[in-house]
Amino acid sequence: MKVAIIGGGPAGLYAAILLKKQRPGADITVYERNRADDTFGFGVVFSDATLDNFEKHDPPSYRRITQEFAYWDDIAVHFRGTVHRVGGNGFCGCSRSKLLLILQERARELGVVLHFEVDIDDESRFVDADLVLIADGINSRFREKHVDHFQPEVDLRSNKFAWMGSTKPLDAFTFIFQETEWGPFIAHAYQYEAGHSTWIFETDPETFERAGLTGLDETQSAARMAEIFGWFLDGHKLLTNRSMWRNFPMIRSKRWVKGNMVLLGDAKASAHFSIGSGTKLAMEDAIALAQAMQNAPSTDAALDLYEHGRREEVEKTQHAADVSLVWFEHVDRFWDFDPVQFAFGVMTRSKAITYDNLRLRAPDFVAEVEKSFAKQVRDNGFDVDTEKPVVPLFQPFRLREMEVANRAVMSPMCMYSAREGVPTDFHLVHYGSRAIGGAGLIFTEMTCVSRDARITPGCAGLWNDEQEAAWRRIVDFVHGNSAAKICLQLGHAGRKGATKLMWDGIDRPLDEGGWDVVSASPLPYFPDSQVPREIDRAGMNAVRDSFVAAAERGERCGFDMLELHCAHGYLLASFISPLTNTRTDAYGGSLENRLRFPLEIFEALRLAWPSHKPMSVRISATDWADGGITGDDAVTIARAFADAGVDLVDVSTGQTVRDAQPIYGRMFQTPFSDQVRNEARVATMCVGNITTADQANTILAAGRADLVALGRPHLIDPFFTMKAAAWYGAKDAFCPPQYLPGMDQIFRNSVRDRQDLEELRIKAKPKTRAELKAEATKPLAAE
Ligand SMILES: Cc1cc2nc3c(=O)[nH]c(=O)nc-3n(C[C@H](O)[C@H](O)[C@H](O)COP(=O)(O)OP(=O)(O)OC[C@H]3O[C@@H](n4cnc5c(N)ncnc54)[C@H](O)[C@@H]3O)c2cc1C
Ligand SMILES: Cc1cc2nc3c(=O)[nH]c(=O)nc-3n(C[C@H](O)[C@H](O)[C@H](O)COP(=O)(O)O)c2cc1C
Repeated sequence: MKVAIIGGGPAGLYAAILLKKQRPGADITVYERNRADDTFGFGVVFSDATLDNFEKHDPPSYRRITQEFAYWDDIAVHFRGTVHRVGGNGFCGCSRSKLLLILQERARELGVVLHFEVDIDDESRFVDADLVLIADGINSRFREKHVDHFQPEVDLRSNKFAWMGSTKPLDAFTFIFQETEWGPFIAHAYQYEAGHSTWIFETDPETFERAGLTGLDETQSAARMAEIFGWFLDGHKLLTNRSMWRNFPMIRSKRWVKGNMVLLGDAKASAHFSIGSGTKLAMEDAIALAQAMQNAPSTDAALDLYEHGRREEVEKTQHAADVSLVWFEHVDRFWDFDPVQFAFGVMTRSKAITYDNLRLRAPDFVAEVEKSFAKQVRDNGFDVDTEKPVVPLFQPFRLREMEVANRAVMSPMCMYSAREGVPTDFHLVHYGSRAIGGAGLIFTEMTCVSRDARITPGCAGLWNDEQEAAWRRIVDFVHGNSAAKICLQLGHAGRKGATKLMWDGIDRPLDEGGWDVVSASPLPYFPDSQVPREIDRAGMNAVRDSFVAAAERGERCGFDMLELHCAHGYLLASFISPLTNTRTDAYGGSLENRLRFPLEIFEALRLAWPSHKPMSVRISATDWADGGITGDDAVTIARAFADAGVDLVDVSTGQTVRDAQPIYGRMFQTPFSDQVRNEARVATMCVGNITTADQANTILAAGRADLVALGRPHLIDPFFTMKAAAWYGAKDAFCPPQYLPGMDQIFRNSVRDRQDLEELRIKAKPKTRAELKAEATKPLAAE
């Protein structure tokens, strides 16, 4: 077998090693345009888990690499004169040039042919090769040459960054967030060998410009960075080596394989430097390719296996990198945070690290986070314990005069079980049991303001006395038997109306018994859905009046709060999104125009709703579709509602158009809540695949939302909140007297269960290489 490899970086060299080990008779050649000992770049980082992977696949190179490594366990966050350190991270650093020399030596030893100073510009010279690996890095010439085939998507990010080095020793992965007269600068720094550290500097384009960095050469810009970070560098120099300021390209290629050519490493996909995974991904690509070559019956099948088997793992890492880079791009959102909360945000930015996880690893740090959170609650007028505070989820919150005892919320969930809009005994038990189960706030399902405003024939409504009486019974039960507050969500289905019950086909048009539907524009949801009538001004007046009448009924029922549903493609949302609003009158066109009718309804409701009671608005913060609403629009929308008096924005996403492309995952809508809360400066509730109290605490402690709503988790567990209270020892959580013996028991058992679990986790956690090294070098105690 003949293998040609273009590029002698980590991907190309490691693939050469693994393939040669697998097929000692194969003719494997690496072509590298640089010299063998060119030393571009400073250090690279690997996690303990990545090193375990290297150990499994090539022990000799693993041993040589790890002999050269610098290890550290801590991450240190420097912000506004404070430093917070968090241990247990298990990372290693190594010089990029040494890594390359080790891989070259190992490849040679195995019989791989290495050609240096050969710049390949045409793959036709490899016509006789069975396999051509394209490992030519982030600016891959060959990916670009076959751009129509590989279809790379290159997203050039807005921040500027530059790699530099220093002789400054560091004992932790160090993030420095530095305020300057021009704006914020960030340093990501780590030691990779004795006396050498990597320094990546990052800033936004405006600060870059203001700091006069445009046009400076490497030496001059290093001098500017040394001035800014001089207080930390302690007289150590900054070193440059091709340290030009660049914009990071996020690359995703649709295809990785063309005939016998295959993309590896940065050439196929990049991951932002803030999660330190570029070299890891490159070498793990090599592992995946070698494994595929081992297991598949032919080269074609192996390449297919590599492309399809590896993609999910790469995309997961890229997603984490995306979330992380967005955090750094928007660091100014958090600049006025308490430093400990800021540091918590840095640690938990890409969702891999959570509250409970940090509590185990860095209990003192989390205790400080809890105190800071409780102090903010105390500053808002609550008499809470700030010395031994309960976790954020069980801290109270206030909106106007409504106080909720905790931050767990039952999200609005249509039950499709009303009769002619009248809630039934099912609803009484449904809402009643979630309230008894401890949620601080219960939202009703979308309650429709008129018969024709319903989504389905099973939707609840509030347009007649019978419905009002039924809702009053539910509200009275909640108030009489729990500590929960209850919010009425009012909505109008718009073009998604006259559709089937969820279990008969969600959003599908009714076969019979339907009614006429209206929307901002006459666009059907599915091609075969009913074409809605474009609502006219008279229709808008009637809708507005029915919202107001329903709110007045809601007040008579005793609801504590009112939410206006402007999300998920229903009538008001259909005005907001440009994908569903093609009007040419004053209600279409600009976002300001598209918001006019929803704001008009909100303002009418605000007048009708008692001023001491809060109101929220639910929005779709993105349509997940080209040309639709984006996170930035959501900030504008939230500001407009805040100006009209909204107290809370309930941040959901999507469900506007059929061909949306949502990116699902744990807590997947939380970044939008974060953006709205910290840019529009309005309280938010986040929701969406938040399934544990740990996740809720992570979100709240990092300041990404004020309330956390759980929909599906509440459907199968009405007692979600009470169980979480027991788990975190929130003793003051409400429990109806009838259930106290059960509550006592679960609280007692939870203390033991929690200890057992934590001990198990600590025992199961392998020692990090840093810990092992520290143990090995510890002097023996005198006997
Ligand atoms: C100069 C440089 C400095 C870096 N510094 C750091 C750092 O300090 N820390 C860190 O963590 N990451 C650093 N990175 C990024 C990180 O190392 C990459 O994510 C990782 O190296 C990806 O590995 P790769 O093998 O896919 O690509 P690369 O490491 O980019 O390797 C690609 C190789 O292909 C060669 N090549 C390109 N075109 C041709 C051609 N036509 N013919 C022959 N050879 C060709 C290049 O010279 C290069 O050696 C650096 C990357 C580069 C290129
Ligand atoms: C069956 C079902 C019914 C829903 N009904 C409503 C509703 O009436 N009003 C609303 O705003 N959202 C509704 N939603 C959306 C939920 O409130 C919530 O945003 C969504 O389920 C995501 O949260 P989760 O992952 O915690 O379930 C509904 C979701 C489901 C699954």
